[in-house]
Amino acid sequence: MIILGIESSCDETAAAVVKDGRQILSSVVASQVDTHAKYGGVVPELASRMHVEAITPVVDQALADAGITRDAIDGVAATRGPGLIGALLVGFSFARAFAWARKLPLAGVNHLEAHIYSLMLLEHPPVFPFIALVVSGGHTNIYHVTSPHDFKRLGQTRDDAAGEAFDKVAKMMGLGYPGGPVIERLAKTGNPAAASFPRSMLQKDSFDFSFSGLKSAVARYLHEHPDLDEAGKADVAASFQTAVIDVLTRKLIRAALSCKCSQIGVAGGVSANRTFVETLTREAKKRRIDVYAPPLSLCGDNAAMIAARGYTMIQNNELCGPDQDVYSRVKV
Ligand code: KG4
Ligand code: ZN
Repeated sequence: MIILGIESSCDETAAAVVKDGRQILSSVVASQVDTHAKYGGVVPELASRMHVEAITPVVDQALADAGITRDAIDGVAATRGPGLIGALLVGFSFARAFAWARKLPLAGVNHLEAHIYSLMLLEHPPVFPFIALVVSGGHTNIYHVTSPHDFKRLGQTRDDAAGEAFDKVAKMMGLGYPGGPVIERLAKTGNPAAASFPRSMLQKDSFDFSFSGLKSAVARYLHEHPDLDEAGKADVAASFQTAVIDVLTRKLIRAALSCKCSQIGVAGGVSANRTFVETLTREAKKRRIDVYAPPLSLCGDNAAMIAARGYTMIQNNELCGPDQDVYSRVKV
């Protein structure tokens, strides 16, 4: 079964063709990041307009790269939410029209579940049940994934998402947007013990996160050290990154132990941080827990993960009716 996946929840217009939920025939991502970088973050109205311009060429490119025509598509999957409403509407309406015109099944995919499904595109995916972390610019959610359709959320951030903390710290340091990649690069030459930043663990048994205290501590440190040279900035980047990684790693391992899971998967933009994945893998190994992370091409927003999740929904007959619309936030 060949699925056309479409993603437009934030600042990437993406389309992909995936066979049987596992084999990526093509995956095209048109990023708007350069446009939004000028404003230091995503401008929703600009994002919607750029999706409108990009959606048809991106879908055509995905079909061409897969070497197929529209007639070969057996089902359509598009992100329904959460995300920016105006942005979501562009991809979802396109998908709805495409499916309706061709009498194809349509799956309205939850973007966060799709990030977890980026792990199902690995050659050796995790097997159920496992613990999953979706960590991006908008979310830091831990799930207990017990079947292809059951995602029990164990915890989430109470303030900033981990990626958002990277972006805000980078902005404070004048490093531009998005902050994750540049902080990771800078951190490589820094001393992670140079500044002692707080690790907010909240209550002992909580799987929730809080990164705003860490962000404020970095702001205070920068205020007290206004003339940092490159080495000093690298120290701040390394100390901040280590604090984030420390919290994520400790909570994930605790979740795996408490749910008796021997596998942890991480997905979303921040899982592109290889220092994080390496640290988590090393620490988890001590507890005989295996760690799974997507390749870099599937960490950020993409449509292959949407098609992979949509495939299982179509197989499960979870189809999108004409009354179902996009949504900005997860209800549960
Ligand atoms: O999943 P994504 O592309 O978009 C959503 O937010 O849904 O994630 C983007 C986020 C940004 O906050 C960015 O700074 C962060 O992922 N990010 C990273 C890295 N690469 C991207 N954070 C830490 N280290 C990285 N290497
Ligand atoms: Zn995302």
